[in-house]
Amino acid sequence: SSREGWFGHMGRIDAIRLPLLAPDFREREIFCCGPDPFMRAVRGMLDAAGFDMAKYHQESFAAPAVEEIPAPFSPPAEDGAAAAVEAVTPIRFSLSDVDAECVAGQTVLQTARASGVRIPAACEFGLCGTCKVRKVAGDVEMSHNGGILDHEIEDGFILACCSKPLSALEIEA
Ligand code: FES
Repeated sequence: SSREGWFGHMGRIDAIRLPLLAPDFREREIFCCGPDPFMRAVRGMLDAAGFDMAKYHQESFAAPAVEEIPAPFSPPAEDGAAAAVEAVTPIRFSLSDVDAECVAGQTVLQTARASGVRIPAACEFGLCGTCKVRKVAGDVEMSHNGGILDHEIEDGFILACCSKPLSALEIEA
């Protein structure tokens, strides 16, 4: 499995693991970021452990409001020109040996899913980095939220969940 070679803790932090990981946690400032139920559980655990909640800070982890989703087809032009032709961009997923077509407005992740290519993903708004894949060829427009570092971008990596093709792509997935 992908966890082979990992000997550290797994799963959520709890009242038993917290003092093992940070014996002096009561003296520390604690910063928490994650989905709401997770942060609620952390707050409850700290409160129960007698932590001074004035030293607890959190950042909510919520998807920004989705802007209106663009229609997949452009309406036919008044003059009957060939505007009804769907705009698609080819994406080659090299490891899966799949040639897919990305409909205008779709992300690399959505295209992968629509064509049966598995790219792991979690937050789906460019924060967690789970969907990081290497781009072998082509250009994308990527609007991430910190889930990828500059040097990774320079090395050709993209976050599939928030990248849209600007040209034909080849992706290592
Ligand atoms: S799924 Fe979290 S950054 Fe893409």
